[in-house]
Amino acid sequence: MLTWDDEVKTPSQNFSQGGQQQGSPQELRAPAAEAPQSRRVSAVDKRIINGKTDVNQLVPFKYKWAWEKYLATCANHWMPQEINMTRDIALWKDPNGLTEDERRIVKRNLGFFVTADSLAANNIVLGTYRHITAPECRQFLLRQAFEEAIHTHAYQYIVESLGLDEGEIFNAYNEIASIRDKDQFLIPFIDAIMDPAFVTGTPEADQTLLKSLIVFACLMEGLFFYVGFTQILALGRQNKMVGAAEQYQYILRDESMHCNFGIDLINQLKLENPHLWTTAFKAEITALFHQAVDLEYRYAEDTMPRGVLGMNASMFKGYLRYIANRRATQIGLEALFPNEENPFPWMSEMIDLKKERNFFETRVIEYQTGGALSWD
Ligand SMILES: [Fe+2]
Ligand SMILES: [Fe+2]
Repeated sequence: MLTWDDEVKTPSQNFSQGGQQQGSPQELRAPAAEAPQSRRVSAVDKRIINGKTDVNQLVPFKYKWAWEKYLATCANHWMPQEINMTRDIALWKDPNGLTEDERRIVKRNLGFFVTADSLAANNIVLGTYRHITAPECRQFLLRQAFEEAIHTHAYQYIVESLGLDEGEIFNAYNEIASIRDKDQFLIPFIDAIMDPAFVTGTPEADQTLLKSLIVFACLMEGLFFYVGFTQILALGRQNKMVGAAEQYQYILRDESMHCNFGIDLINQLKLENPHLWTTAFKAEITALFHQAVDLEYRYAEDTMPRGVLGMNASMFKGYLRYIANRRATQIGLEALFPNEENPFPWMSEMIDLKKERNFFETRVIEYQTGGALSWD
C-alpha cells in the first residue's frame, strides 16, 4: 500500500533532474504540507548546466533569448518537398548543362551534408540535450533536432531527384579524404558527451562539455558548412541548380539560427561558470579553430581544383579566416586573423532572407498546416 512518502518519490521527482538524483533522503520525507511548495521553480535558481530545478517546468522563464529563438525557428518552418526540382533535374540530365567542375561541387557538397546533419542531430539528441538543465534551451534543442532531420531529408531529396548514386554519396564521409578528415575532427567531441558514463559537475567534465558546444556551434555549424553553402548558392546566383540552391538557402537560414543559439548558450554557460574559461582552455580552443580553418580550406581545394563560378579555393582562405574571426570574437576570444575582409558579401544577404521573399521562385506547394488538417 502506498504511503505519502512513496508518492513524493513518484515520476515527477525521478524525472525532474533528467535522470540525476535530486535532494537528500531527508528532503524526500518532508512533511506533506510543505512538499508542493518546495518543488516550485524560481527563475533565479535555473542554470544552463548542473541546475537543480525541475527540467519539466518550462516557466517561469529565465532564458528568454532561448525561448524567443525557439519561436523564431518555428516561424521559419519549411519542408523540402515544397521546392520544385524540375529545372535541376533537366539541367543535371543535359550533358551540356553543367561543367565537370560544377558537377564535382554538387556531388562533394551532398557527400558532406548527407551525413553531417545526422551527426548534428545525434549530437543534440544523444549528447548535448541531457547535460543542459535549462528547459528553455532544451525546447530550442528539440526544435533544432527536428530541423536537422529536415536538412538530412532535403539532401536525400536532392540526391533522389537527380538520380545520383546513393552508395557513392552516403559513403563519401568514409571514402573522400577531405570530407572524412572534417568528420574525424568532429566525432571525438560528439563521442565524449554521448558516452553514457559522462556526467557534468566537475571543472574537467564541464570544460569537456563547453568544448563540445564550441566545436559544434562555432566550428561545425559555424564554419564547416560555409564552403558548401557558398558554392551551391553561387550556382543558384548563375541560374543553375536553382531548386537545390533554394533548399540550401532555407538550410543556411536555419543553421545561422542554430549557430547564434549555440553562441548564446556558450556565453551564458561561461557567465555562470567563469572558472572554466582559463588561459589554458582558451589556448586549446584557439588551436582547434586553426585546425578547423585548415581542414575546411583543404575541403575547398578538393572541391575546387580549378577556378569555377567566378570563385577559387584561395578566395575561401580569406572567407574562412573572416568567419573564424567572427566566431572567435562572438565567444570572447581574440580574432585569429586580424583585418580579414569578407570576399563574399552577398552571402550575408542570403543569411538574412525572409521566408516571404522567394529568391529563386521555384516554390510550388504548401505543406499541410493545422488549418488544412483533415480527420477523414
Ligand atoms: Fe542542419
Ligand atoms: Fe544545425
